[in-house]
Amino acid sequence: MKLWAGRFSKEIDKKTNDFNSSISVDSRMYEQDIEGSIAHVAMLAKQGIISAEDGKKIKQGLLGIKEDIASGALPVDPDAEDIHTFVEQNLTQRIGDAGKRLHTGRSRNDQVALDIRLYLRKECDELLKLLADFSETLDKKGEEYAGAIMPGYTHLQRAQPITFKAHLSAYKEMLARDIGRVTDAQKRMNVSPLGSGALAGTTYPVDRAFTAELLGFDTFSASTLDGVSDRDFCIELAAALSLIMVHLSRLSEEIILWCSWEFKFAELDDAFSTGSSIMPQKKNPDITELVRGKSGRVFGDLMTLLTVMKGLPLAYNKDMQEDKEAIFDAFDTVKICLTTLIPMVDTMRMIPKNMRKAAAGGFINATDCADYLVSKGLPFRDAYKATGEAVALCIKTGETLESLPLSEYKNICDLFDEGVYEAIKLENCVKNRGM
Ligand code: ARG
Repeated sequence: MKLWAGRFSKEIDKKTNDFNSSISVDSRMYEQDIEGSIAHVAMLAKQGIISAEDGKKIKQGLLGIKEDIASGALPVDPDAEDIHTFVEQNLTQRIGDAGKRLHTGRSRNDQVALDIRLYLRKECDELLKLLADFSETLDKKGEEYAGAIMPGYTHLQRAQPITFKAHLSAYKEMLARDIGRVTDAQKRMNVSPLGSGALAGTTYPVDRAFTAELLGFDTFSASTLDGVSDRDFCIELAAALSLIMVHLSRLSEEIILWCSWEFKFAELDDAFSTGSSIMPQKKNPDITELVRGKSGRVFGDLMTLLTVMKGLPLAYNKDMQEDKEAIFDAFDTVKICLTTLIPMVDTMRMIPKNMRKAAAGGFINATDCADYLVSKGLPFRDAYKATGEAVALCIKTGETLESLPLSEYKNICDLFDEGVYEAIKLENCVKNRGM
């Protein structure tokens, strides 16, 4: 039977019921729903809105439901409209009339707004832990190959020599900003909507500060209309999650390149690679490709949320039921990507010999050669031009800057001396840049 049975003379059409129902998506919030109801009931009893005895019965009933859903003894009814309805109806079946008092001074509108906040707060905690773990893994990898030199690129052309550690530390910075964004959004989200009712608060003497404190919120929503209709936090988090995916996708792209025979800077552990059904020689970096591909899902989730919210009049509208599928998918996707990437990167073997070899080609130390001339007093623009001539000569004669004879250097600019060979050594190039 529906919650609104009194007003209606017919049962809802079956397909309409399926269309309207959100239980397949929101049943995962059952613990938060029950936690919120227990706080609400404690407040109702404290304020004398229901009796202490009913309060106790309701709390016991709710704890029993939580236990039974967790153990599987109480399967969630797929025909129920949502998790809030399911829990409330089951409560009344269990404890009788007292159960009908649970929803006093509350609406599903403030209830669902509360549940998502509680649920996402926990998701943020898990995500922050994964981000910190990943950052630590990058640190460890960088240390493991502390001496490794590789080409740094711009335009994917060899640009200047760098250390592998410096390369990874760029990703650590991205992760640090990601952690900052999630922490910030989590803080802004930590406001209790409970007591907003359907939109205009309630006529009961509710104590909103009490429930907010019981549930670990910093405060409660100043506007009851905003309390039920704010989904900014979903959008903020989806934006933060999208940026995380941008970062994971960029790293994935690099690992894909590093694993190719063209680069061969890295080799993934067999446990984190896949083979081909036809080509026996293949070892594919599927995980990284999937991470790169899954970024699209998360960006899509962000777009879904923005689009759902953009035209809604105040306050609650059923459109907002679409929020959960999108934000849950975004969290699930980022979490599974991180969970898979962390051990993959942790076991990834770098091949410093190949990295160094690549760094030794492509005249990657040309800037250092020019800087060396600058140290001899030449203006940078002239030093740049002289080095350019040396590079052009090397290309013509098949030399490198390391093998070009000093006499040739001197023909280009007489400021060159033996010291140039020290100045363009890759190890010195990275050292002089503080890497
Ligand atoms: N399932 C709904 C949602 O996710 C719960 C709130 C329903 N409120 C309402 N007035 N129909 O948004």
